[in-house]
Amino acid sequence: MIDHRITISLLLSVALTGCDPKPTADMNKYAKDTHSFSRPNEVAVTHLHLDLNVDFDNKVLSGSAAYTLERNAGNMLVLDVRDLDIRGAKAADGSVLDFRVVKGNDRGDKLEIDLPEGLTELSVDYATSPAAAALFWTPAEQTLDGTAPFLFTQGQAILTRTWIPVQDSPAVRFTYSAKVKTPKGMIALMSAENPTQMNDASEYTFKMEKPIPAYLMALAVGNLQFQSLGARSGVYAEPGMIEKSAYEFADMEQMLLAAEKLYGPYEWGRYDVLVLPPSFPFGGMENPMLTFATPTIIVGDRSLTSLVAHELAHSWSGNLVTNATWDDFWLNEGFTVYFENRIMEALYGAEYAGMLTVLGYQGLLETIADLGEGSADTHLKLNLENRDPDDGMTDIAYEKGFLFLRWLESLTGRERFDSFLKEYFNSNAFQTMTTEDFIIYLDINLLSGLSERPDVESWIYKPGLPANHPVPVSSLFQKVDSVRAQWEQGQIAAADMPASAWSTHEWLHLLKGISDTLGVAKLIALDTAHGFTNSANSEIAAAWYMIAIRADYAPAFPALEAFLMKVGRRKFIKPLYEALAKTEKGTAWGRAVYLKARPRYHSVSVQTLDAILKYPYPEL
Ligand code: BES
Ligand code: ZN
Repeated sequence: MIDHRITISLLLSVALTGCDPKPTADMNKYAKDTHSFSRPNEVAVTHLHLDLNVDFDNKVLSGSAAYTLERNAGNMLVLDVRDLDIRGAKAADGSVLDFRVVKGNDRGDKLEIDLPEGLTELSVDYATSPAAAALFWTPAEQTLDGTAPFLFTQGQAILTRTWIPVQDSPAVRFTYSAKVKTPKGMIALMSAENPTQMNDASEYTFKMEKPIPAYLMALAVGNLQFQSLGARSGVYAEPGMIEKSAYEFADMEQMLLAAEKLYGPYEWGRYDVLVLPPSFPFGGMENPMLTFATPTIIVGDRSLTSLVAHELAHSWSGNLVTNATWDDFWLNEGFTVYFENRIMEALYGAEYAGMLTVLGYQGLLETIADLGEGSADTHLKLNLENRDPDDGMTDIAYEKGFLFLRWLESLTGRERFDSFLKEYFNSNAFQTMTTEDFIIYLDINLLSGLSERPDVESWIYKPGLPANHPVPVSSLFQKVDSVRAQWEQGQIAAADMPASAWSTHEWLHLLKGISDTLGVAKLIALDTAHGFTNSANSEIAAAWYMIAIRADYAPAFPALEAFLMKVGRRKFIKPLYEALAKTEKGTAWGRAVYLKARPRYHSVSVQTLDAILKYPYPEL
């Protein structure tokens, strides 16, 4: 659609001026994004070349970024920067360019570079700060193997500007290439075509030939090994984790095939997954060609791989069709949760996918209750102006977005909905989408076929859930509900639960439904029978620690402390610290642990937890 408009305006300008359309090219091609200072409608970056050296001793990346520009108006390139040391700017012929860093706000500053008439190639010399929010310099002892340090980046939502001067808006796409020099014995990987082996020169080159937005720029450096999983897929992990990782992700190639069968060809060439140290603040991050993943999904039974389906699905929803601004984040995540669930259903059946749906729905109800039924943060379309976008990125985009698409599916039938989605990805590939453009697209391509137009605006612009929303159910979970009730009422012993065939998801459902008022004796019996305190499954352990905190179940606290010291995944540690902060005793204990653990967490988690625990502690 967007292309269409541009074409019309270009044609018009040619017709009106009868000559070169360039001076009047569409000045509104790029959506207004309040989280970027860049002005791509005037000057846009179309290609980036990075030449970087990785210095673990000083925690610094330094080198240069070279840009190719598309110029429509004005004589200034404005890039987003934060905590960067900008050392100089020059044109391709070596002539020096004037630049200045202008103070912006807490979320970033502007780098303004004056451009001589007609200049389309320039470069900037710069270095990052050891405090760069996107970067996490993991010391060797906090990696899985403990043999070498590890660097990873996390760009989404607006952190790429802390390691590259860039037009840091999801609406701006560019291709990139890079050269990265690492210390000996390390390999560098990026969201691009990647090496599979270390080389003696410790110098690696990269190419991303499809245009991507800045938040998908990614780099990881460490002692890593590669193992192939199929024709187009493989896994990178530290040597001590590679076998386990390959076992866990054995179905990846099947996921890729199932995804293509649903919504069209995979456009990115290879699909690999990189297993990161446990400090990684997210479950996964959909960096193109190379998903970054938490090691907490490597549990030995392949039960947490829906995360891979999710990140893979982003190769369409998000990476091909990208939210234009962070207010439209639900277009990335809602579509991805829907797509993820369809991949899981294709591989493991409707009953399995149904469990994941119910777990998601229960999480959604909790999120709505936490935010407040009437909160504007429960709208699908957000207004994050003057806020850190990270603060508004909740379960709403994911699970309300998912439910909205499920509801549309129920109105049109699956077959029509699937062909709609396939065409949506196909015709909007490598473009950005606003919520408003999506509604227009939806009206023309799906809703026009219905006898009555459904009320999509209530879903998108109103709080909470519309009264007619679908309510997911799972017959497998209904069985768990009855077992739990029998145990709570003392009709069966904890050890006699008929659970031998239960998956992780059934255990999670059991734990999430346990009443707060059972008393410690019953928890001891349950823990003794099933060993939750020392569970090697991160999801089960985290759900159990929530119960332990609320019931002040002392035997779990040493294991909880070890968990908090090791795992930096925000989805787990945020609710645990929140639950601790509800009582005076819990606050004191949680704050003591956090003081020790804080240096081990990435800035994304630190920012959230500082607010919960009121760090730095005023009374200490
Ligand atoms: N793109 C997100 C991660 C993200 C969101 C990073 C917002 C920064 C800001 C990724 O695809 C994601 O959703 N990860 C989830 C896992 C998924 C299975 C729901 C996560 O990390 O928990
Ligand atoms: Zn996602």
